[in-house]
Amino acid sequence: MVTTRATAEESPDQSDQSDQPDQSGRSAVRTLLRLWPYVRPARVRLFTAAAVAVVASCLTLVIPLVLKWMVDGPVADRDPAGVWLGALYLLLLGFAEALLFGLRRWLVARPLAGVEASMRADLYRHLQRLPVAFHDRWASGQLLSRGTTDLMLLRMFLAFPLTFLLVNSVTILVGVIIMLLQDWTLGLVILIPAVPVMVTCVVFEKRYASVARRAQDQVGDLTTVVEESVLGIRIIKGFGRHRSQARAFRELSRTLRGTELHKARLLATIWGVIVTLPELAIGAALVLGTVQVADGGLSAGTLVAFLSTALALRWPVDSIGFLLAMSQEAATATERYFEVMDAVPEEPAPAAPATVGSRSAGRNGWAQPAAPGTGSKGLRGDGLRFHNVQFRYPDAPQDSPPVLHDIDLHIRPGESMALVGATGSGKTTLTALVPRLHEVTSGRITLDGDDITAMSRKQLRSLVAVAFEEPTLFSASVADNVLMGTGDGAGEPELERALAVAQADFAHALPHGTETQVGEQGLSLSGGQRQRLALARAVVGRPRFLVLDDPLSALDVHTEAAVEAALREVLAETTALIVAHRPSTVLLADRVALLSEGRIAAVGTHHELLRGNAEYAHLMAGTEEADR
Ligand SMILES: Nc1ncnc2c1ncn2[C@@H]1O[C@H](COP(=O)(O)OP(=O)(O)OP(=O)(O)O)[C@@H](O)[C@H]1O
Ligand SMILES: [Mg+2]
Repeated sequence: MVTTRATAEESPDQSDQSDQPDQSGRSAVRTLLRLWPYVRPARVRLFTAAAVAVVASCLTLVIPLVLKWMVDGPVADRDPAGVWLGALYLLLLGFAEALLFGLRRWLVARPLAGVEASMRADLYRHLQRLPVAFHDRWASGQLLSRGTTDLMLLRMFLAFPLTFLLVNSVTILVGVIIMLLQDWTLGLVILIPAVPVMVTCVVFEKRYASVARRAQDQVGDLTTVVEESVLGIRIIKGFGRHRSQARAFRELSRTLRGTELHKARLLATIWGVIVTLPELAIGAALVLGTVQVADGGLSAGTLVAFLSTALALRWPVDSIGFLLAMSQEAATATERYFEVMDAVPEEPAPAAPATVGSRSAGRNGWAQPAAPGTGSKGLRGDGLRFHNVQFRYPDAPQDSPPVLHDIDLHIRPGESMALVGATGSGKTTLTALVPRLHEVTSGRITLDGDDITAMSRKQLRSLVAVAFEEPTLFSASVADNVLMGTGDGAGEPELERALAVAQADFAHALPHGTETQVGEQGLSLSGGQRQRLALARAVVGRPRFLVLDDPLSALDVHTEAAVEAALREVLAETTALIVAHRPSTVLLADRVALLSEGRIAAVGTHHELLRGNAEYAHLMAGTEEADR
């Protein structure tokens, strides 16, 4: 079955998030402060908006004072003109408040969209720079959800809770002062619930933090399942696994639902406390106040003012529960965002050419165009050398045997070396070391004598072009996909030549020729067609070093023969390492290296090895028959 949970459980955030007691120990404020660099550009507007909101909110508190004036003045004096005037004041106050809140919205909307966009762009740029090993380790859904749901939560936090936690605190403070000034005994009655409410808030915040984290991680898991089943829809249908796949999805979404309900229960509890206790206090104050008014110790206007102030504070107090909840979610989102941002990218950063709508992490090889007139460039220098290279995948256990060890291989300048070995022997792994998609565990690889780790990635990738086993095409035109393999200067002639070498002339017969959109958003091509475009991409920049991982595996014998004939010319100019399974491909190469049990077991010409090496003869025997 298509893996569902496994990938998600492997991602590092999963292992430590489930029952973390210290999770709640982290400070939400400190986490949220990490957003400052992104918020900085919007700070003036954000602060202005907060100030506007504070003023607007405090205007609400003036209303009770106008009421007091009306009750004790015009109403007591039975003066209708005064009542109308009071009503006009109230209307104006309401109008001003609405206007100010509108202004606040207008102030924050645009800059906050900008903050979200720049955070998303940073995340994407960072993901492009993170090593392949990172992408091997992380489930793609976890990355996707961080770039979508989490960033949306952050924008909402910046737009609303951030401002209103401040606004409400100020409003509550001012309101309490006004109430104490009206009548301090009633004011103290109102203040009694403050302590239990605050304690509840603290307890709630801790619990909510860990549940929020769990919910957001589960959204990531769910995204992974959806993504995998969309990409693997053929396999799911082909094997009739749609039911089990749907079941897996349902289980995950039920878990998520459970977590969301847990969140809702927590929120309901705190809301219950926050709403009920102050309400009781207001009731008590009403009774006490009425008694005082009856005794003549308090004017009716003051009581009205007092109670309407208390009522005006209801919303600021009530909303604190969900403002805290949203802040917690934002803190979690920030944490998840920075988990990715804190992962160390490949250094030094490659000044990579813009990739086209890339979703998969695969770098499909690019190379700068060769300077004109350097046709025989591959024939000078020292060629490609592996010096005692050892390699173990970074996430493999320390005591496991390395995938590759004691690799000493010299591919002379201009030479083509075929790499042959049983499946799983490490051929793909070896080829990935040359463009530094993975770093050697020990040993060195040199290109014309220069250690690849001493080069900038840009320089390295301008020297080496690769075509992988899995030919990935991006959602772009055929021409764009092929020309990805070269610098900006390349144009029509290079494209034509590359398509000719790869026998990819079918591209011209597509509905819009080489401008036809392919990839996920475009026309679907056959495996062999994709493979030939990937090969064209590898050769288009006339790279000095060419690394091909089984580039002809999906082609029929005739097309393969045609590609080989054309490829021969290219190979004459470059130093090449070609993974091959079939004798016909092997024959393209000058010499063959046999990879066996993670090391180079033999090097020689095809015929030498065929005669002198039993393993090689065995590997080739089956395929030779098949080829005939
Ligand atoms: N990303 C990875 N992380 C950990 N181990 C890996 C990874 N990719 C491959 N391996 C392991 O490394 C070994 C060599 O794999 P590799 O893909 O290099 O084989 P190969 O020779 O290219 O095989 P094939 O002929 O089938 O393409 C395998 O045992 C595989 O399980
Ligand atoms: Mg392979």
